[in-house]
Amino acid sequence: MSFKLDTPIDMHLHLREGKLLKDVLQWSAEQFAAGVIMPNLVPPVDNMDRLRKYRKEILENLKEKQFTPLMTLFLRHYSYRELEEAKGEIFSIKLYPKGITTNSEKGVSSIEEFYPVFEIMEELEIPLSVHGETNGFVLDREREFAPIYIQLAERFPKLKIIMEHISTKELAELVRDYPNLYATVTLHHLLFTLDDLAGGRLNPHFFCKPILKTPVDRAVLQRLVREGHPRVMFGSDSAPHILRDKLKGAAGVFSAPVALPLLAHFFDGDWKGLQRFISDNARRNFNLQIPEKEVEILEIPWEVPHIVGEVIPLLAGERLRFRVRGIG
Ligand code: NCD
Ligand code: ZN
Repeated sequence: MSFKLDTPIDMHLHLREGKLLKDVLQWSAEQFAAGVIMPNLVPPVDNMDRLRKYRKEILENLKEKQFTPLMTLFLRHYSYRELEEAKGEIFSIKLYPKGITTNSEKGVSSIEEFYPVFEIMEELEIPLSVHGETNGFVLDREREFAPIYIQLAERFPKLKIIMEHISTKELAELVRDYPNLYATVTLHHLLFTLDDLAGGRLNPHFFCKPILKTPVDRAVLQRLVREGHPRVMFGSDSAPHILRDKLKGAAGVFSAPVALPLLAHFFDGDWKGLQRFISDNARRNFNLQIPEKEVEILEIPWEVPHIVGEVIPLLAGERLRFRVRGIG
């Protein structure tokens, strides 16, 4: 059995720089036609010079593979002129609350201070991608952020706001309430819970922000994705860290190698549903013009690599039911 996906897009992807980029890039470039590339490098991607150099580094490492990096800028106090210049070269601007996740030290402490930037973005039709967590108790951080999403959605009705990597029942419900709220869902929040991280032996390869949640949260997310909500899209949040950093507690799941095989398992025959989640919703919502690319999934068992460069992938060494043609 096999089926083809048309132009799969990863709406939330960390590719890093230098050697790490070289090691991990092919896994996304093989499986996806495009990816929204996160700007939380050190220093952050917060000017067009840095963004263009970073984009060039990605393109140079593609080695003929067809993959479109959709670039993002790290939120700061941009002027109208800066955003006018950036508009044609970026997909969105990313808001990180200060200190909430990997490389977010330059993030935002007061959302209101950025209202003037959101006004410009609304006018120029630049979407806002948001890591929606407070600095409260780790399991409550995302639901505590819901009022901020509501405040933004109501105050800037024409601004497209993407709630990144939603992991709770509350946000899965909130996306239905405002036409300018969108959501990305990761593989790991869709398939796993806190038990996979800490229920038995501690497994740091499941540790990420936002942290994995309860079976109830997962069930609500699964329902939202299965029903094919038009504003819900796949964003892996694949976030590689070398093993040494991972063992020091770095947050991030490297899921790029297993993205399509596990999604095929989840949708199990509902290939139209998978197509919507992996591409159609994103292309329609954001009018993405990406060169078409066909990716074939085969129902042939595949063993996940034990290590990619110096990074351990999600489900390393396990046998999966599906594989992507051309990989392994
Ligand atoms: C991401 C990373 O490592 O860059 N980590 C994570 O746990 N998801 C950052 C992020 O998206 O929060
Ligand atoms: Zn991320």
